[in-house]
Amino acid sequence: MTVVVLAAGGGTRMKSKTAKVLHPLAGRSMVGHVLAAVAELQPRRVVAVVGHQREQVAPHVSEAMPEALIAVQKTQDGTGHAVRIAWEALPEADREGTVLVAYGDTPLLEGRSLAAFLEDHQGAGRAVSILSGIVARPHGYGRVVRDADGGVTGIVEQKDASPEQLAVNEINSGILAFDAAFLREALPRLSADNAAGEYYLTDTVALARQDGLGVGAFPLDDVLQTEGANDRAQLAELGREKNRRIVADWMRAGVTVMDPATTWIEVDVQLAPDVTILPGTQLLGATVVEEDAVIGPDCTLQDVEVGAGARVVRTHGQLAVIGAGATVGPFSYLRPGTRLGAGGKIGAFVETKNAQIGDGAKVPHLSYVGDAEIGEGTNIGAGTIVANYDGVHKHRTVIGKHARTASNNTFVAPVTVGDGAATGAGSVIREDVPAGALAVTAGPQRTISGWVLRRREGTAQADAARAAGAADEQAQEI
Ligand code: UD1
Ligand code: CA
Repeated sequence: MTVVVLAAGGGTRMKSKTAKVLHPLAGRSMVGHVLAAVAELQPRRVVAVVGHQREQVAPHVSEAMPEALIAVQKTQDGTGHAVRIAWEALPEADREGTVLVAYGDTPLLEGRSLAAFLEDHQGAGRAVSILSGIVARPHGYGRVVRDADGGVTGIVEQKDASPEQLAVNEINSGILAFDAAFLREALPRLSADNAAGEYYLTDTVALARQDGLGVGAFPLDDVLQTEGANDRAQLAELGREKNRRIVADWMRAGVTVMDPATTWIEVDVQLAPDVTILPGTQLLGATVVEEDAVIGPDCTLQDVEVGAGARVVRTHGQLAVIGAGATVGPFSYLRPGTRLGAGGKIGAFVETKNAQIGDGAKVPHLSYVGDAEIGEGTNIGAGTIVANYDGVHKHRTVIGKHARTASNNTFVAPVTVGDGAATGAGSVIREDVPAGALAVTAGPQRTISGWVLRRREGTAQADAARAAGAADEQAQEI
């Protein structure tokens, strides 16, 4: 089987510098979803017809499906013309058997629907089959025209239809299956003698019928699968519907989703049974969540691996790994290269980047950890900054195992703190600290008695100090 994907059209209503078929939903471009559905059929050959914004579309198709052929349609003279361009691009060996034509802008399309359609087409031995749909509002679509016996005689486009034909609610989804031998001789017979002045692929149906060949339609109940997104409102609608389907599939697979309406899961995400997802959570890219982990509320995780039983609350994470049983959040920002070990903790208002934090290690409060390694069992005090950037270069900080660093420390990279070391509060660590040592850099405290009474006379502060017995008679140098 050969598959032709038409993606040369303009998409003016998107009002976008991005080609229509490249607009994403659920983690893939529209054409990416179509190519994924097509790939499930394991076709011998796929050819994508590109035209408008082909400098964007062609490389994108080649990345999504490197083996696909690209055919360029310089002017969009209709779907029949587009398929002719595809046909000309095909090696002779691929001009046999069945040719399936699909569109690049139907992101809900599923491989199993195409498979059922093709089975029906091939089983009936037709020259051409229409994947049709029964819809309440057929306006804009080509209508499937049938004779008195219910046999399909053709497809008539909206612009060319009689009032009687306009009343038909069986529409052409656009997806057609052909016997290649028929398609070969039908394509040159198409004319542009119609209301749009285009070569309609749909005219092949009447041609087959005239030739006495088998034609038929296979209505797909789930009409949304063949619906295209022509503007951003439709894109959002189809995006929500796609998400609804993905979330429903995960719930059937054993994932608890408290609020499907505010949970967004992209197609490539993997979830284990007994994962729980709380409201306001987006799981994006290649995110993987192992069993019993609880994510949310209000998390965005992109390409993040979450270990079994981990707890992640109100967190924004990207390209990070969270170990089994670890806890993250609330209000944590995990940037690329963050690896938190099993049972570790990244707490409130902590930002991490390229940071390997060992098993059971904790960065619980108000900290920045960048380009750093923190050994297992180490506790980092509240308000710690790993100063990785000297204004020109980034440097690395290494803190050993089971260290205890105090609050409000700055580690000026490059610096190494040994296993089991300790630091004093407010220290600025610029030099290496050996294993087991205590490093203290803050100077001795100066206490100037009565300063407030002399310098803040008449304030609530001074009144409070006096009420507490502070004396102002000492003449202290400041
Ligand atoms: C087409 C069908 C119509 C069907 C509808 C479903 C024809 C003549 N009509 O109408 O029966 O109900 O789709 O959505 O086929 N394209 C190209 N090159 C072209 C023209 C179109 O690649 O020269 C691509 C477009 O990018 C698009 C698809 O073909 O993906 C359909 O084209 P469009 O112009 O939207 O066709 P419709 O008028 O909607
Ligand atoms: Ca269309």
